Amino acid sequence: MQLSLDSKFATYVPPKSQLLKWVGNKHRFAGEITRYFPTDFNTFYEPFLGSGAILATVAPSKGIGSDVFKPLMDIWQKLKSDPNELIEWYSARRNRIEKEDKKIVYEDIKASFNKNQNGADFLFLTRSCYGGIIRFRKTDGYMSTPCGVHTPIPVHSFAKRVKEWNNRLKKVSFLNIDYKEAFEMAKEGDLIYCDPPYSHSQSILYGAQDFSLIDLFEKIKEAKSRGVKVALSIDGKKKSGNLICDIPIPENVFNEEIFISVGRSMLRRFQMEGQTLEAEVVSDRLLLTYDIN
Ligand SMILES: C[S@@+](CC[C@H](N)C(=O)[O-])C[C@H]1O[C@@H](n2cnc3c(N)ncnc32)[C@H](O)[C@@H]1O
Repeated sequence: MQLSLDSKFATYVPPKSQLLKWVGNKHRFAGEITRYFPTDFNTFYEPFLGSGAILATVAPSKGIGSDVFKPLMDIWQKLKSDPNELIEWYSARRNRIEKEDKKIVYEDIKASFNKNQNGADFLFLTRSCYGGIIRFRKTDGYMSTPCGVHTPIPVHSFAKRVKEWNNRLKKVSFLNIDYKEAFEMAKEGDLIYCDPPYSHSQSILYGAQDFSLIDLFEKIKEAKSRGVKVALSIDGKKKSGNLICDIPIPENVFNEEIFISVGRSMLRRFQMEGQTLEAEVVSDRLLLTYDIN
C-alpha cells in the first residue's frame, strides 16, 4: 500500500549516481526515506554521513554532514573546498590502471593508505574495492578489502559526479566529529537523519564493533526534548516483536515506524489493521520522533 502524505512533507530527487561506492549506502532508498522528512526545518544534520546519499538527496539550504572517520571527511571537505583537486586525486590513481595491472595498482594504493590514512587514497579504494565493502582488521585497523572485480569508473564520469554533488552540497559544512558532538550542536527546529553502523550485517564494517545503539537512543531522546526532529534508519530485516536486533526500543521516543522497501513503504498501523508485511520485501525501517500526519 502506498501512503498518501500531505504537503508538509517534501519531495526530493536523489543524485543520478553515487560519488563513492559504499556497501549499505542509502542511495536506493533515498527518495523514499526523504518523503518522511518535514519541509519546515532549519539546519539538516547527517551525523553518520558515510557516502552521503541522504544528504545529497535533501541538498539542504543549511546543513552539517559529519562522520567520525577522518579519511572519509577529507573527501567531503575537498569536494567542497576544491572539487578540481578531488578529481585530480582520483585521476592520478585511476589513470594508472590504463597502463598497469589493476590489482597491483590497487594493492599499492591500499598499502599507501594503510601506511598513512588519507582521503586521496581512500577515494580510489572506495571506487575500486570489492563490493564497496570498506573493511578494517579489528586488531590493528588495517584496511583489508581485496580489489573488486569491476573496472572503477572512468575519470570523466567521476568528474561529472563531482560537479553534481558539489552543486547539491554547496550549503553544507563537513565536520570530522563523533555523532554525539553533532547532536549537541542541533537546536530546536533542526532535523537530524541517522544511519548508524549498528546492524548484524554490518558488524565487520568500520565503526560497527564499538557502537552502542542504546547511547544513540539516549541522545535522540535528549534531542527530541529540545525540539529537534530525528529520523533513524535501522536494519529492517532483523526484527521480532518490539525489539531491534535484540535491543529494546525505548518508550516515548519514536512516534512513527515506517517500513521502507524500494519504491514503496508501509506504516506499522496498516499491519495492525490486518495487512501483513510478510508478503512484502521489507528492506529497511525508519523511526521518526515526530508525527507524519
Ligand atoms: C551505515 S554508515 C552510513 C551510510 C550512509 N547513510 C550512506 O548512505 O552511505 C555508518 C557511518 O557511521 C560512521 N560512524 C561510526 N561510528 C560513528 C560515530 N561514533 N560517530 C559518527 N560517525 C560514526 C561510520 O564511519 C560510517 O560512515
